[in-house]
Formats: sequence, C-alpha cells, structure tokens
Amino acid sequence: MTLFPSSTQDIPSIGDVPKHIAIIMDGNGRWAKKRFMPRVAGHKRGVEIVREIIKACAERGVAYLTLFAFSSENWRRPQEEVSFLMQLFLRALDEEVAKLHENGIRFRVIGDLSRFDSKIVDLVRRGEALTAGNTSLTLTVAANYGGRWDILQAMEKMLAAHPEKRSGFEEADLAAHLALNYGPEPDLFIRTGGEQRISNFLLWQLAYSEFYFTDTLWPEFDATALDLAIASYRRRERRFGRTSEQLQSGGSRDQVRSSAARENA
Ligand code: IPE
Ligand code: IPE
Ligand code: MG
Repeated sequence: MTLFPSSTQDIPSIGDVPKHIAIIMDGNGRWAKKRFMPRVAGHKRGVEIVREIIKACAERGVAYLTLFAFSSENWRRPQEEVSFLMQLFLRALDEEVAKLHENGIRFRVIGDLSRFDSKIVDLVRRGEALTAGNTSLTLTVAANYGGRWDILQAMEKMLAAHPEKRSGFEEADLAAHLALNYGPEPDLFIRTGGEQRISNFLLWQLAYSEFYFTDTLWPEFDATALDLAIASYRRRERRFGRTSEQLQSGGSRDQVRSSAARENA
C-alpha cells in the first residue's frame, strides 16, 4: 500500500509550494560546448548546481526532490563520457553524503544499480542507511533509471507478493512496489535544456504532475530560475479531472473530495 494518495485515485493535497519536485537536469553538454569546453566540464558545473538546488528546495520547504542523473539509455554515450559520469557520481557520493546528513537531508537512489561498480553501490547503500532517519528533505537521485524498467520490476514484485492472483489488481498494488514508493507523486516536473520530453523518467508518477520546460541549460539553473518554475506552478489550477467550477464553488475541496468518494464507492 502506498502511503500517499494517488492523483488518479484520490485528490492529493495541493500547496503553494510543491511537495515533490522532479527534475530532468539537461543541457550540460551544450553549456560546455557554447564555452568551447569539453562536455564533461558541463557535468562538473552541473554538480555545483545540484548543490544549489538542493539547498534552495530545503529552504523553500519542498519535501521531496528527485533528480534524474543518469538514464538507462545514457549507457549509449561515448565510453569516456560514461566513465567520467561514473567517477563524478562516485566523488559526489564520497564528498557530499556527510554534508547532506549534517543538513538533515534523507538520501535515496532509485534505478537498477546492478550495472554499477561495487564501490558506488556500497557508498549509495551506506549513504541511504546513514540518512534514513532524516526529515528535512528527501533527495532522490535516479541513476540507471528508466520509467519502463521501474514499472516492470514493480509488476514482478507485485506478482511475487500475490502468487495465486492473476487479475483484479489495483493501481495501488503496483504503486507499492515502484522504486519511489516512499514518496508522493511529483507535483512539479521540470526539464531544463529546452527539450520537451520525458525521456523515460517517472512514467507512472507523472500522470498528473504539472510540467515546466525551460530553455535554461542545467548549469545555469540557479535558485532564481527555480523560483520562476515554482511561481509558474502556483498560477496553475490542478483539477484532477474535475471542472474549474467544482473547484471554485464554496468549500471546493470538501466537495471535490466527496465527489471522489462517490466515484470510488
Ligand atoms: C544532462 O546533460 C546530463 C546527463 C544526461 C548525464 P546532457 O549531457 O544531456 O547535455 P546536452 O543535452 O548534451 O546538452
Ligand atoms: C535525460 O537526458 C536523462 C538525464 C538528464 C539524466 P538526455 O539528455 O539523455 O535525454 P534525451 O536522450 O536527449 O532525451
Ligand atoms: Mg541531454
């Protein structure tokens, strides 16, 4: 069972500050190229921005931040770039986890870690254990993550948990086994770098997220840019299938809630 209401089954609570922000950090390579630097220089600068955005999210009361660091498709990149990214990940884990812990941040990694070096896996597991009790912000890094991989692995776990059952499953049965089963669905999805696609990120959980695309390249996405994204989020009306009138009539949330209850009855 998931702990949080699903956007397609119930109405999640909506706040001015998104409870969960998920980001595709894109544009590192192009940022470097514009400066006649190697692509990897963009990745290095990208890590600095990650620090700034984590801090900004914690300060703004965001409860969950999920960052796409390496997709299941990124292995297709040139070998040197993949190796550099792995080294960078290793170094960041080594240097940053203690600082995250000092700041009360809970650290998690989602993705298929079986392809990673054992040193990385070790640091990930230790970092997760060290920070497990922290409550200020939950930072999730998606590494060798793919939304379709996630749905498949969740389905296998769900079937294993109910060996006799062949039909009659509910969304919550599957959601309970998704890699991100410890958090609510993202309220706000941000993609930097100008592309307008999901690239196999959180396919299941983005069902009702608000999307924000910006041309700003990730190495230039600072706290001010984050605030613009949050301001855009705050201007939107999240209807979860209902009409605007339903939301605006008096006691709208209760009314919407009771209509949801009828629907689920
Ligand atoms: C995102 O930046 C970082 C990773 C995918 C690891 P890119 O490396 O995709 O940068 P562009 O899209 O080539 O500019
Ligand atoms: C998506 O970025 C993955 C990450 C940011 C880690 P890409 O730059 O690899 O995405 P596509 O392949 O261009 O869509
Ligand atoms: Mg890219």
